[in-house]
Parts: sequence; structure tokens; C-alpha cells
Amino acid sequence: MTLNEVRAACNVCTQCPLSVTRNSVVFGVGPEKTPVMFVGEGPGQREDEQGVPFVGPAGKLLDEMLSIIDLSRENCYIANIVKCRPPQNRDPLQTEQDACIGWLRKQAALISPKIIVCLGRIAAMRLIDEGFRITKDHGHWVQKGGIWFMAIFHPSALLRDLTKRPDTFRDLKSLQAKIKEVCPDFYNNLE
Ligand code: URA
Ligand code: SF4
Repeated sequence: MTLNEVRAACNVCTQCPLSVTRNSVVFGVGPEKTPVMFVGEGPGQREDEQGVPFVGPAGKLLDEMLSIIDLSRENCYIANIVKCRPPQNRDPLQTEQDACIGWLRKQAALISPKIIVCLGRIAAMRLIDEGFRITKDHGHWVQKGGIWFMAIFHPSALLRDLTKRPDTFRDLKSLQAKIKEVCPDFYNNLE
């Protein structure tokens, strides 16, 4: 299957009850092949309206964070653990994550990132370690199945708590260094 075929199948998914309340499936955005992938938690209201991840206030901040290290929606991939909005923006339930995670796996298999950055606790608990403590463990690199994983604070948390921003700046610089280490050509090939 191609990424577009996976997207088309995901767009009509009814594997969990979030399909009942969603307006759009928010599959993901970015190039079909890229070494860097970001994974958030799930769509919010704006994302549900537009079908695009991270387009609300947190998304605007995410774009600014990416630009600090010359990343953008054109050169890295952005997706979520669940593709449909949980009502009232509650955390996605374990059962919803279990139902949806196969889409992310298919996506990642095709995009084949060398680095996956979890945005916030929910993604980190799902993709790195179920005991992940974002306050303590953000910025730490772990390698699993040939992919480097790291988590940073969710941009929504950075909107609420400015004191977390210096740590996140350091984590972004660490990401930049990891990109240079594992994909030495990445920055050379950006126009
Ligand atoms: N928060 C997320 O985790 N994902 C989005 O797509 C938007 C906000
Ligand atoms: Fe399907 Fe995921 Fe949406 Fe649930 S959240 S309906 S599993 S795409």
C-alpha cells in the first residue's frame, strides 16, 4: 500500500467510537519519506474542522519551534496517536489508542523515519515507555527497532507554562544534533 492508499482507508475508518463524533480524520501532514516524524496526542477542535494536525494555537507554536532548527511541514512528518478528536479534548482512551495505533504503524513503515519525536506525555507513554514521566524524561534519547525516540513537552503545555520553554529549546537543539548525527545530508539538502 502507498501512503495515499493508507490515508484513503484511514479516512473512512470506524474502528473506534471516535468515528461517530469526528468531523474529519486527521491523518497527518508531511513528505512521504522523511527522517524526522513528530507524533502528538490527537486532534483538537481546529484540527477536527480542517483535517490537518496542529493548526490551532498549539500548532502555531509547534511551527515556530520547528523553524528554530530549520524544520517545517515540508521537510518532516506530523501525525497523532489517534486520528479522530476525543470529545472535549479529553485524553484518548487506551481502547481508542489500541484501535488507532495500527494506522500510525503503517504510516511510519512507509515514511521510514530515523527519528520520532513524541509531543507530550500521551505519545511518549505509548511509543517510548508506559511509565514515561515527561517532566523527568523529556529530552532523553532511546533507540528501539532502529529508530531514535525522544519526547519534548507538548506545545499546549508550553503555552500554559512558559517556564518549560528553556528546557524545550535545549531538547530542540539536541534533536538538531541527532539529525546531523544520523542523517548527515539532511540539512545540506534543504534549499
Ligand atoms: N494537539 C495534538 O496533540 N495534536 C494535534 O493535532 C493538535 C493538538
Ligand atoms: Fe479509526 Fe483511529 Fe478514528 Fe478510531 S480514532 S475511528 S481507530 S481513525
